Amino acid sequence: MFFLTILLFSYTQMSQQIQKTTANAKEMLSNPKLVPVQGTLNVVMKQNVTLSCLSQAGSPPVRYTLFKHNQQVSAVNRSDSTPALFTLTISSASDVGEYKCKAEYNSSSGGKYSNSLTFTLIEPISKPVLSSPTSQAKKGQNVTLSCFSENGSLPITYLFFKGKQSIPPQKTMQKREAAVIFLFLDSLSDFGTYKCKANNSFPNNSKYSNSFNFTLAGMNEKVTTVDKLGSHNIQNVLTMQVFSQIFCLWCSNYNFLNFKKKLKF
Ligand SMILES: *[C@@H]1O[C@H](CO)[C@@H](O)[C@H](O)[C@H]1NC(C)=O
Ligand SMILES: *[C@@H]1O[C@H](CO)[C@@H](O)[C@H](O)[C@H]1NC(C)=O
Ligand SMILES: *[C@@H]1O[C@H](CO)[C@@H](O)[C@H](O)[C@H]1NC(C)=O
Ligand SMILES: *[C@@H]1O[C@H](CO)[C@@H](O)[C@H](O)[C@H]1NC(C)=O
Ligand SMILES: *[C@@H]1O[C@H](CO)[C@@H](O)[C@H](O)[C@H]1NC(C)=O
Ligand SMILES: *[C@@H]1O[C@H](CO)[C@@H](O)[C@H](O)[C@H]1NC(C)=O
Ligand SMILES: *[C@@H]1O[C@H](CO)[C@@H](O)[C@H](O)[C@H]1NC(C)=O
Ligand SMILES: *[C@@H]1O[C@H](CO)[C@@H](O)[C@H](O)[C@H]1NC(C)=O
Repeated sequence: MFFLTILLFSYTQMSQQIQKTTANAKEMLSNPKLVPVQGTLNVVMKQNVTLSCLSQAGSPPVRYTLFKHNQQVSAVNRSDSTPALFTLTISSASDVGEYKCKAEYNSSSGGKYSNSLTFTLIEPISKPVLSSPTSQAKKGQNVTLSCFSENGSLPITYLFFKGKQSIPPQKTMQKREAAVIFLFLDSLSDFGTYKCKANNSFPNNSKYSNSFNFTLAGMNEKVTTVDKLGSHNIQNVLTMQVFSQIFCLWCSNYNFLNFKKKLKF
Protein backbone atom coordinates (compact mmCIF):
# COMPACT_ATOMS: atom_id res chain seq x y z
CA MET A 1 0.00 0.00 0.00
CA PHE A 2 2.71 2.35 1.04
CA PHE A 3 4.68 1.26 -1.98
CA LEU A 4 1.73 1.92 -4.25
CA THR A 5 1.33 5.42 -2.84
CA ILE A 6 4.95 6.17 -3.59
CA LEU A 7 4.48 4.79 -7.07
CA LEU A 8 1.37 6.91 -7.63
CA PHE A 9 3.12 9.96 -6.25
CA SER A 10 6.13 9.53 -8.47
CA TYR A 11 3.87 8.93 -11.45
CA THR A 12 2.07 12.23 -10.80
CA GLN A 13 5.39 13.96 -10.43
CA MET A 14 6.63 12.39 -13.61
CA SER A 15 3.62 13.43 -15.66
CA GLN A 16 3.94 16.96 -14.27
CA GLN A 17 7.55 16.88 -15.33
CA ILE A 18 6.54 15.79 -18.83
CA GLN A 19 3.90 18.49 -19.05
CA LYS A 20 6.46 21.07 -17.95
CA THR A 21 8.91 19.84 -20.58
CA THR A 22 6.24 20.15 -23.29
CA ALA A 23 5.51 23.70 -22.17
CA ASN A 24 9.25 24.42 -22.21
CA ALA A 25 9.50 23.04 -25.77
CA LYS A 26 6.91 25.58 -26.87
CA GLU A 27 8.92 28.26 -25.03
CA MET A 28 12.13 27.37 -26.82
CA LEU A 29 12.36 30.57 -28.81
CA SER A 30 15.80 31.43 -30.11
CA ASN A 31 17.14 34.94 -29.67
CA PRO A 32 15.68 36.86 -32.60
CA LYS A 33 17.85 38.60 -35.19
CA LEU A 34 17.25 42.29 -35.82
CA VAL A 35 18.50 43.46 -39.24
CA PRO A 36 17.84 46.46 -41.50
CA VAL A 37 15.90 45.38 -44.58
CA GLN A 38 17.79 47.54 -47.11
CA GLY A 39 21.05 46.34 -45.64
CA THR A 40 22.55 49.69 -44.65
CA LEU A 41 22.85 51.33 -41.27
CA ASN A 42 23.76 54.70 -42.79
CA VAL A 43 20.69 56.88 -42.81
CA VAL A 44 19.79 60.46 -43.55
CA MET A 45 17.22 62.66 -41.84
CA LYS A 46 13.58 61.99 -42.91
CA GLN A 47 14.54 58.59 -44.28
CA ASN A 48 12.20 55.63 -43.76
CA VAL A 49 13.95 52.47 -42.67
CA THR A 50 12.52 49.01 -42.19
CA LEU A 51 13.82 46.59 -39.58
CA SER A 52 13.18 42.88 -39.67
CA CYS A 53 12.94 40.80 -36.48
CA LEU A 54 12.77 37.01 -36.58
CA SER A 55 13.25 34.17 -34.10
CA GLN A 56 14.34 31.22 -36.25
CA ALA A 57 13.33 28.50 -33.81
CA GLY A 58 9.98 29.94 -32.83
CA SER A 59 6.73 28.23 -33.64
CA PRO A 60 3.91 30.67 -34.37
CA PRO A 61 2.15 32.59 -33.12
CA VAL A 62 5.00 34.77 -31.87
CA ARG A 63 4.72 38.27 -30.55
CA TYR A 64 7.52 40.66 -31.60
CA THR A 65 8.18 43.92 -29.82
CA LEU A 66 10.59 46.65 -30.96
CA PHE A 67 12.42 48.74 -28.38
CA LYS A 68 14.38 51.95 -28.78
CA HIS A 69 16.61 52.78 -25.80
CA ASN A 70 14.71 50.05 -23.86
CA GLN A 71 11.39 51.74 -24.53
CA GLN A 72 8.71 49.97 -26.51
CA VAL A 73 8.17 51.43 -29.97
CA SER A 74 5.67 48.97 -31.43
CA ALA A 75 4.63 45.32 -31.38
CA VAL A 76 3.15 42.83 -33.82
CA ASN A 77 1.89 39.24 -33.58
CA ARG A 78 3.04 36.89 -36.30
CA SER A 79 0.77 33.91 -36.92
CA ASP A 80 3.28 32.42 -39.40
CA SER A 81 7.09 32.04 -39.43
CA THR A 82 7.78 35.23 -41.39
CA PRO A 83 9.72 38.07 -39.79
CA ALA A 84 8.08 41.01 -38.11
CA LEU A 85 8.74 44.20 -40.09
CA PHE A 86 8.98 47.56 -38.35
CA THR A 87 9.15 50.78 -40.36
CA LEU A 88 10.62 53.87 -38.76
CA THR A 89 11.10 57.43 -39.95
CA ILE A 90 14.34 59.03 -38.84
CA SER A 91 13.20 62.46 -37.74
CA SER A 92 15.60 63.36 -34.95
CA ALA A 93 19.11 62.52 -33.79
CA SER A 94 17.72 60.19 -31.10
CA ASP A 95 16.01 58.04 -33.76
CA VAL A 96 19.33 56.48 -34.75
CA GLY A 97 19.15 53.96 -31.92
CA GLU A 98 19.87 51.75 -30.01
CA TYR A 99 17.18 49.30 -31.20
CA LYS A 100 16.40 45.81 -29.95
CA CYS A 101 13.51 43.45 -30.50
CA LYS A 102 11.96 40.82 -28.31
CA ALA A 103 10.26 37.58 -29.34
CA GLU A 104 7.78 35.87 -27.00
CA TYR A 105 4.77 33.61 -27.15
CA ASN A 106 2.73 35.75 -24.83
CA SER A 107 3.35 38.48 -22.35
CA SER A 108 3.23 36.09 -19.35
CA SER A 109 6.15 34.00 -20.65
CA GLY A 110 9.68 35.42 -20.68
CA GLY A 111 10.80 36.69 -24.07
CA LYS A 112 14.15 36.55 -25.84
CA TYR A 113 16.01 39.64 -26.92
CA SER A 114 17.84 40.30 -30.17
CA ASN A 115 21.14 41.94 -30.97
CA SER A 116 21.05 45.72 -30.81
CA LEU A 117 21.22 48.00 -33.83
CA THR A 118 22.37 51.58 -34.03
CA PHE A 119 22.10 53.71 -37.16
CA THR A 120 24.68 56.21 -38.30
CA LEU A 121 23.21 59.52 -39.32
CA ILE A 122 24.78 60.86 -42.51
CA GLU A 123 24.81 64.62 -42.36
CA PRO A 124 25.08 66.91 -45.37
CA ILE A 125 28.27 68.93 -45.67
CA SER A 126 28.33 72.65 -45.09
CA LYS A 127 29.63 75.02 -47.75
CA PRO A 128 33.41 74.62 -47.78
CA VAL A 129 35.68 77.57 -47.05
CA LEU A 130 38.66 78.14 -49.32
CA SER A 131 41.54 80.08 -47.79
CA SER A 132 45.26 80.68 -47.90
CA PRO A 133 47.68 82.27 -45.42
CA THR A 134 49.05 84.15 -48.45
CA SER A 135 46.81 86.61 -50.24
CA GLN A 136 49.56 88.58 -51.98
CA ALA A 137 52.20 86.64 -53.83
CA LYS A 138 55.02 87.22 -56.26
CA LYS A 139 55.58 85.37 -59.48
CA GLY A 140 57.58 82.22 -58.76
CA GLN A 141 56.27 81.92 -55.21
CA ASN A 142 54.93 78.74 -53.65
CA VAL A 143 51.59 79.14 -51.90
CA THR A 144 49.12 76.83 -50.16
CA LEU A 145 45.36 76.66 -50.52
CA SER A 146 43.13 75.03 -47.90
CA CYS A 147 39.59 73.81 -48.35
CA PHE A 148 37.47 72.89 -45.34
CA SER A 149 33.82 71.96 -44.66
CA GLU A 150 33.06 72.58 -41.00
CA ASN A 151 30.10 70.19 -40.87
CA GLY A 152 29.10 66.97 -42.58
CA SER A 153 29.79 63.28 -42.10
CA LEU A 154 33.25 61.96 -42.80
CA PRO A 155 34.91 61.06 -45.06
CA ILE A 156 34.72 64.27 -47.10
CA THR A 157 36.18 64.46 -50.60
CA TYR A 158 37.62 67.77 -51.83
CA LEU A 159 38.47 68.89 -55.32
CA PHE A 160 40.20 72.19 -56.18
CA PHE A 161 39.54 74.30 -59.27
CA LYS A 162 41.36 77.09 -61.06
CA GLY A 163 38.65 78.83 -63.01
CA LYS A 164 36.54 75.97 -64.35
CA GLN A 165 39.49 73.59 -64.57
CA SER A 166 39.84 70.98 -61.84
CA ILE A 167 43.19 70.41 -60.18
CA PRO A 168 43.40 66.62 -59.69
CA PRO A 169 43.70 64.47 -57.70
CA GLN A 170 40.69 64.86 -55.41
CA LYS A 171 41.57 64.54 -51.74
CA THR A 172 39.53 62.37 -49.39
CA MET A 173 39.83 63.34 -45.74
CA GLN A 174 39.01 60.69 -43.12
CA LYS A 175 39.46 63.24 -40.35
CA ARG A 176 37.91 66.64 -39.89
CA GLU A 177 40.89 68.39 -41.46
CA ALA A 178 41.29 70.77 -44.35
CA ALA A 179 42.52 69.49 -47.69
CA VAL A 180 45.65 71.40 -48.67
CA ILE A 181 47.31 71.86 -52.06
CA PHE A 182 50.60 73.53 -52.93
CA LEU A 183 50.74 75.84 -55.90
CA PHE A 184 53.73 77.23 -57.68
CA LEU A 185 52.62 80.61 -59.07
CA ASP A 186 54.62 80.36 -62.25
CA SER A 187 52.70 82.55 -64.65
CA LEU A 188 50.15 85.34 -64.50
CA SER A 189 47.39 82.82 -65.24
CA ASP A 190 48.22 81.10 -61.93
CA PHE A 191 46.87 84.23 -60.21
CA GLY A 192 43.39 83.21 -61.38
CA THR A 193 40.26 82.61 -59.39
CA TYR A 194 40.35 79.44 -57.30
CA LYS A 195 37.45 77.44 -55.87
CA CYS A 196 36.98 74.08 -54.24
CA LYS A 197 34.18 71.55 -54.09
CA ALA A 198 33.31 69.18 -51.26
CA ASN A 199 31.06 66.15 -51.09
CA ASN A 200 30.38 63.19 -48.84
CA SER A 201 28.13 60.14 -48.92
CA PHE A 202 24.99 62.23 -48.35
CA PRO A 203 23.13 61.87 -51.65
CA ASN A 204 23.42 64.71 -54.18
CA ASN A 205 25.30 66.99 -51.85
CA SER A 206 28.25 68.62 -53.61
CA LYS A 207 28.98 72.15 -52.47
CA TYR A 208 31.28 74.82 -53.89
CA SER A 209 33.35 77.18 -51.78
CA ASN A 210 33.86 80.90 -51.97
CA SER A 211 36.28 81.98 -54.68
CA PHE A 212 39.79 83.04 -53.81
CA ASN A 213 42.19 85.27 -55.79
CA PHE A 214 45.89 85.64 -55.28
CA THR A 215 46.98 89.24 -55.67
CA LEU A 216 50.20 89.98 -57.47
CA ALA A 217 52.46 91.69 -54.95
CA GLY A 218 55.37 94.05 -55.55
CA MET A 219 53.58 96.67 -57.69
CA ASN A 220 52.65 100.28 -56.89
CA GLU A 221 49.02 99.29 -57.04
CA LYS A 222 47.47 95.94 -56.23
CA VAL A 223 46.61 94.42 -59.57
CA THR A 224 44.15 91.60 -59.33
CA THR A 225 44.53 89.33 -62.28
CA VAL A 226 42.06 86.84 -63.58
CA ASP A 227 42.80 84.04 -66.04
CA LYS A 228 43.32 86.83 -68.54
CA LEU A 229 43.50 90.47 -67.54
CA GLY A 230 40.02 91.98 -67.74
CA SER A 231 39.69 95.23 -69.69
CA HIS A 232 38.50 96.87 -66.49
CA ASN A 233 41.81 96.01 -64.80
CA ILE A 234 43.86 97.20 -67.77
CA GLN A 235 41.99 100.51 -67.62
CA ASN A 236 42.84 100.80 -63.94
CA VAL A 237 46.50 100.15 -64.62
CA LEU A 238 46.54 102.67 -67.47
CA THR A 239 44.81 105.29 -65.32
CA MET A 240 47.39 104.76 -62.62
CA GLN A 241 50.25 105.06 -65.07
CA VAL A 242 48.90 108.22 -66.74
CA PHE A 243 48.16 109.73 -63.37
CA SER A 244 51.60 108.97 -61.96
CA GLN A 245 53.26 110.36 -65.10
CA ILE A 246 51.32 113.63 -64.85
CA PHE A 247 52.11 113.73 -61.18
CA CYS A 248 55.79 113.21 -61.87
CA LEU A 249 55.82 115.89 -64.57
CA TRP A 250 54.39 118.27 -62.00
CA CYS A 251 56.74 117.11 -59.28
CA SER A 252 59.82 117.35 -61.47
CA ASN A 253 58.65 120.84 -62.46
CA TYR A 254 58.25 121.66 -58.82
CA ASN A 255 61.72 120.34 -58.05
CA PHE A 256 63.04 122.21 -61.05
CA LEU A 257 61.47 125.50 -59.82
CA ASN A 258 62.82 124.88 -56.35
CA PHE A 259 66.17 124.15 -57.85
CA LYS A 260 66.04 127.40 -59.85
CA LYS A 261 65.01 129.32 -56.70
CA LYS A 262 67.95 127.81 -54.90
CA LEU A 263 70.22 128.76 -57.79
CA LYS A 264 68.94 132.37 -57.74
CA PHE A 265 69.61 132.57 -54.05
C1 LIG B 1 8.12 57.80 -45.12
O1 LIG B 1 6.92 57.26 -44.63
C2 LIG B 1 5.91 58.22 -44.42
C3 LIG B 1 4.73 57.52 -43.76
O2 LIG B 1 4.64 56.21 -44.16
C4 LIG B 1 5.52 58.83 -45.76
O3 LIG B 1 4.53 59.80 -45.59
C5 LIG B 1 6.75 59.47 -46.37
O4 LIG B 1 6.48 59.97 -47.65
C6 LIG B 1 7.89 58.48 -46.46
N1 LIG B 1 9.09 59.18 -46.86
C7 LIG B 1 9.92 58.72 -47.78
C8 LIG B 1 11.14 59.56 -48.05
O5 LIG B 1 9.73 57.68 -48.38
C1 LIG C 1 -0.94 39.86 -29.65
O1 LIG C 1 -0.92 38.80 -28.72
C2 LIG C 1 -0.97 39.18 -27.36
C3 LIG C 1 -0.87 37.94 -26.51
O2 LIG C 1 0.19 37.17 -26.92
C4 LIG C 1 -2.28 39.91 -27.09
O3 LIG C 1 -2.30 40.37 -25.75
C5 LIG C 1 -2.39 41.10 -28.04
O4 LIG C 1 -3.64 41.72 -27.92
C6 LIG C 1 -2.20 40.66 -29.48
N1 LIG C 1 -2.17 41.83 -30.32
C7 LIG C 1 -2.76 41.90 -31.50
C8 LIG C 1 -2.62 43.18 -32.23
O5 LIG C 1 -3.40 40.96 -31.94
C1 LIG D 1 1.29 32.04 -22.00
O1 LIG D 1 2.39 31.17 -21.88
C2 LIG D 1 2.33 30.39 -20.68
C3 LIG D 1 3.60 29.59 -20.60
O2 LIG D 1 3.90 29.02 -21.83
C4 LIG D 1 1.09 29.49 -20.72
O3 LIG D 1 1.03 28.75 -19.54
C5 LIG D 1 -0.15 30.36 -20.87
O4 LIG D 1 -1.26 29.55 -21.06
C6 LIG D 1 -0.03 31.27 -22.08
N1 LIG D 1 -1.16 32.19 -22.14
C7 LIG D 1 -1.81 32.49 -23.26
C8 LIG D 1 -2.90 33.51 -23.14
O5 LIG D 1 -1.53 31.98 -24.35
C1 LIG E 1 28.00 73.65 -38.24
O1 LIG E 1 27.12 73.12 -37.28
C2 LIG E 1 26.99 73.93 -36.13
C3 LIG E 1 26.13 73.18 -35.13
O2 LIG E 1 25.03 72.60 -35.76
C4 LIG E 1 26.41 75.27 -36.52
O3 LIG E 1 26.30 76.09 -35.38
C5 LIG E 1 27.31 75.93 -37.55
O4 LIG E 1 26.72 77.13 -38.00
C6 LIG E 1 27.51 75.00 -38.72
N1 LIG E 1 28.48 75.58 -39.63
C7 LIG E 1 28.24 75.80 -40.91
C8 LIG E 1 29.34 76.39 -41.70
O5 LIG E 1 27.16 75.52 -41.42
C1 LIG F 1 58.38 75.54 -54.79
O1 LIG F 1 58.11 74.16 -54.56
C2 LIG F 1 58.77 73.31 -55.46
C3 LIG F 1 58.36 71.89 -55.18
O2 LIG F 1 57.23 71.85 -54.37
C4 LIG F 1 60.28 73.46 -55.33
O3 LIG F 1 60.92 72.64 -56.29
C5 LIG F 1 60.64 74.92 -55.57
O4 LIG F 1 62.01 75.08 -55.31
C6 LIG F 1 59.87 75.84 -54.66
N1 LIG F 1 60.14 77.21 -55.01
C7 LIG F 1 60.27 78.17 -54.11
C8 LIG F 1 60.56 79.53 -54.65
O5 LIG F 1 60.18 77.96 -52.91
C1 LIG G 1 32.04 63.18 -54.89
O1 LIG G 1 32.12 63.76 -56.18
C2 LIG G 1 33.05 63.14 -57.04
C3 LIG G 1 33.06 63.87 -58.33
O2 LIG G 1 33.38 65.22 -58.12
C4 LIG G 1 32.69 61.69 -57.25
O3 LIG G 1 33.66 61.07 -58.04
C5 LIG G 1 32.60 60.99 -55.90
O4 LIG G 1 32.13 59.68 -56.09
C6 LIG G 1 31.67 61.73 -54.98
N1 LIG G 1 31.75 61.11 -53.68
C7 LIG G 1 30.70 60.70 -53.02
C8 LIG G 1 30.96 60.08 -51.68
O5 LIG G 1 29.57 60.83 -53.47
C1 LIG H 1 20.53 62.78 -57.46
O1 LIG H 1 20.70 63.43 -58.69
C2 LIG H 1 20.43 62.60 -59.80
C3 LIG H 1 20.77 63.36 -61.07
O2 LIG H 1 20.79 64.73 -60.85
C4 LIG H 1 18.97 62.19 -59.77
O3 LIG H 1 18.69 61.35 -60.85
C5 LIG H 1 18.69 61.46 -58.47
O4 LIG H 1 17.31 61.15 -58.37
C6 LIG H 1 19.08 62.31 -57.29
N1 LIG H 1 18.97 61.52 -56.09
C7 LIG H 1 18.35 61.98 -54.99
C8 LIG H 1 18.33 61.07 -53.81
O5 LIG H 1 17.87 63.09 -54.94
C1 LIG I 1 38.44 87.48 -57.92
O1 LIG I 1 38.59 88.14 -59.15
C2 LIG I 1 37.44 88.12 -59.97
C3 LIG I 1 37.77 88.79 -61.27
O2 LIG I 1 38.43 90.01 -61.07
C4 LIG I 1 36.29 88.84 -59.26
O3 LIG I 1 35.12 88.76 -60.04
C5 LIG I 1 36.05 88.16 -57.92
O4 LIG I 1 35.06 88.86 -57.21
C6 LIG I 1 37.33 88.12 -57.11
N1 LIG I 1 37.05 87.36 -55.93
C7 LIG I 1 37.48 87.72 -54.73
C8 LIG I 1 37.12 86.82 -53.61
O5 LIG I 1 38.14 88.73 -54.55
